Amino acid sequence: MNASPRPSPTTEPGTGRSALSRRGFATAVIGATAVTGLPAATAQAATARAGSATPAAPGAFDPRDWTSVRDQFALSRDYLQFSAYVLASHPRQVREAIDRTRDQLDADPIAVGAGFVDEDRSLEVRTSLAGYLGCHADHVALTDSTTMSLALLYGGLKLRPGQEILTSEHDFYATHQALRLRNQRDGTPVRKIRLYGDPARATTDEIVSRIVRALTPHTRVLALTWVNSDNGVKLPARAVADALREVNARRARADHVLLCLDGVHGFAAENVTMEGLGCDFFATSTHKWLHGPRGTGLLWGKPEHWPLVRPVIPNFSREGYEGWVGGRDPVAAPAILGTPGGYHSFEHRWAVPEAVRFHEMIGRARVTARIKSQAALLKDGLRRLPGVRVLTPDDPSMSAGVVCCTVEGWTAARAEHELRAAHRVIATETPYAEPHLRFGPTVVTGPEQTAKVVRAVAALR
Ligand SMILES: Cc1ncc(COP(=O)(O)O)c(C=O)c1O
Repeated sequence: MNASPRPSPTTEPGTGRSALSRRGFATAVIGATAVTGLPAATAQAATARAGSATPAAPGAFDPRDWTSVRDQFALSRDYLQFSAYVLASHPRQVREAIDRTRDQLDADPIAVGAGFVDEDRSLEVRTSLAGYLGCHADHVALTDSTTMSLALLYGGLKLRPGQEILTSEHDFYATHQALRLRNQRDGTPVRKIRLYGDPARATTDEIVSRIVRALTPHTRVLALTWVNSDNGVKLPARAVADALREVNARRARADHVLLCLDGVHGFAAENVTMEGLGCDFFATSTHKWLHGPRGTGLLWGKPEHWPLVRPVIPNFSREGYEGWVGGRDPVAAPAILGTPGGYHSFEHRWAVPEAVRFHEMIGRARVTARIKSQAALLKDGLRRLPGVRVLTPDDPSMSAGVVCCTVEGWTAARAEHELRAAHRVIATETPYAEPHLRFGPTVVTGPEQTAKVVRAVAALR
């Protein structure tokens, strides 16, 4: 995979001899296989797929067994980890991939492929993420976080004077601040609307109709968050995209409304592809629900829309370099040019495929079902408690793994502290103007622990 040229002809610069030595690429290829242990992992995945016919060796990771899944994490056993998605703890195979690469980088960074252009290893990472998202590697830019992806997107989108960005009052700091910076830079109008009254009762019809009513001929961008991290509402992205398609059918192409999502709390919690989701741009990190390497993220865009994003940070690619040497604009897939350059914490970036493999060994559908069934238990249990108001919709189509509530007489910060200190439950206060108490069941938690969490909240008196 790594030795091949770019997977799409659009990425071939076709500009003659590369000014860069090919030795670096060949070395990277050898390094990639040795470092990430691809054949071994592939064999493991095949074992997982084979099901009960091939029982796991004693002590080995058995992706069918939730206890074994939990055992892959070094997360403290002293607590019930209901916020493990906030910043990932790495499962064993990710930790080991990181350790191997770190050792190699410490020994000889050039030999392992950390040259000016790390494109072979980057291609492996983009290919792995593209496989997960159901898209092409050329449409995936690598970043360090959702926040960086949003900044590159909203900072770089080419808009005509007067074209506006519509967002919601419910969105997170990362979106709001990226839009504020954009507005300060060039005056791009930014407008905020409410998408629902009571989040717990939010419906697809309500959200879609409020959005459609708010659109004006000047609205070019709809900047939203797929799963809200303050109340757990999951936006009906597909329905919004379908409504926009009707609106866009009546508009000139240059005026189409683009649906841009901060997707971080749906990515790897929900089991969808980019096509199924229906958005135009999707920003996420891998260091939440995928339990990927900390400091890794991506920006995906539909191929027809990527050219609208002007790169902000110089890219370290062969094409970028050749363009510079040749004194001209680089020719490459926009997502490649949109991947910020500079040397990175490569031991983390290059371990992303291992996180994808871990997730897929367990099974995407199983992960989602595990998260959703616990979220349902949690919401049901919390709702029965006097003085507790659950903000997250019951409807599984309107919610994912984030579960938020308020507890009468308790600030979220005090509740977070008490749950940790007295009940050994890790929940978090949401980082919003009016914070709520937030839980997130993941693959490291289970139904029995969820029941304990409900009892712990009941004991907040
Ligand atoms: C909705 C939302 N977007 C983005 C972020 C930041 O994520 P990242 O670290 O990937 O930038 C958070 C919280 O950490 C969040 O809740």
